Parts: sequence; C-alpha cells; structure tokens
Amino acid sequence: MNEIISFLKKRRSVTAKKMLPGKVLDSDLKDILECALRVPDHGALAPWRLIVIQKDMRKTIGEEILEPEFKKNNTDLNEEKLLFERNRFMRADKIIAVIYTPADSQKIPNWEMMLSTGAVCQNITIAAQSLNYAVQWVTEWYSYNNKMLEYLGGDVSKDKIAGFIYIGEKKEDPLERIRPKFEKVIKFLN
Ligand SMILES: Cc1cc2nc3c(=O)[nH]c(=O)nc-3n(C[C@H](O)[C@H](O)[C@H](O)COP(=O)(O)O)c2cc1C
Repeated sequence: MNEIISFLKKRRSVTAKKMLPGKVLDSDLKDILECALRVPDHGALAPWRLIVIQKDMRKTIGEEILEPEFKKNNTDLNEEKLLFERNRFMRADKIIAVIYTPADSQKIPNWEMMLSTGAVCQNITIAAQSLNYAVQWVTEWYSYNNKMLEYLGGDVSKDKIAGFIYIGEKKEDPLERIRPKFEKVIKFLN
C-alpha cells in the first residue's frame, strides 16, 4: 500500500484537551501552510484567510477576547472556568484560525467557497498529523463569537470562522474511534 493511503487510513486527531503545547518547528509550519493553500478552489478565488496564533498572542487573545466574551455570555461563572478561558489557546503551540471570506462572484456560489474553506482546514489537519503532531480542528463557542471574528480581521457582515486548528505535541497515541459503516454511507450505482 502506498504511504499516503496507509497514513490516511490510520490518521487520528488528538483532542486539544489531551495535547501538550510542545514546539512546532518553523520548517514544519511552513510546510503545513503551503499544503493549506493547495486546495481545490473553483475559480481560484482564495475565499479564505489563515491566521497563525502563536507565542504571546495565545495569552493576549485569552485575556482580551476569550475570558471577557465568556464572562459576558455566561452566568454560571467561577474562577476555574475563567482561568480556563484565559489559557485556552495555551493548550497548543500554534493555533491556525481559518476564516471563510466569500469573494464577489457571479459564477461561483458561496457554498463552493465554503467547501474550499473546509478543504483548507482538512489539509492543515492532515499535513500536521503526517508530521506526527497532535492536531484537532475545533469550532467550540468562540468560532461563533463576533468579537473574535473582528479581532482576527474578519468582516462580521459576511465572513465566518471555519475553525481553529490546534497543533501541539502528542502525549500518547489516541485510541481508534467509531467510523461509519461503508454500507450506511456509500452507495454504488452500476
Ligand atoms: C467543522 C468542525 C468543527 C469541529 N468542532 C469541534 C469542537 O468544537 N470540539 C470537538 O471536540 N470536536 C470538534 N470537531 C471534531 C474534531 O475535529 C475531530 O473530528 C474529532 O476529534 C475526531 O477526529 P478524527 O476523525 O480526525 O480522529 C469538529 C470537526 C469539524 C469538522
């Protein structure tokens, strides 16, 4: 079996909860980002933006957005929960935010631009997993928060956060999870 097929048949995400921040090499990050941009994209519109959150900005966004927005939108608060929000981005070395930003096009529907944005997220995920990092694509609550979208440079009237891809270090290999049964989701038309 070729290497790519055997990797894809086995790859697994490691939850942000279970990863260590570790250290992503600069050369690996560059490779991951190059793979991210090499996705199917009808009309070559590049209807997405990537923001790499790293170093001190992980903490700054925690202090300036995650904690205050969580506080504003929740009533059942305690110090432990607020501390978690403040440090949320410290769970990984790099967090790549992927923003869907539809281009004006007469020909290409927004739906296709969204699909291309999903492909960016998946390329980041598999490229980083192939380098043996712990990786998870999450949306959690703050992907749907307008302050976060604005902070990352998005336009709340049209853009959306497709997700945050956490890249860190694996503590241990994850267990397999249930996968859909072939017969349930695949049909052959002969
Ligand atoms: C758009 C999108 C958003 C997701 N958001 C979350 C999330 O907020 N929290 C979470 O635990 N998993 C989330 N997941 C699921 C994980 O990324 C991942 O699919 C799961 O951990 C198992 O992945 P694996 O099949 O790569 O092993 C999301 C997946 C997608 C595609």
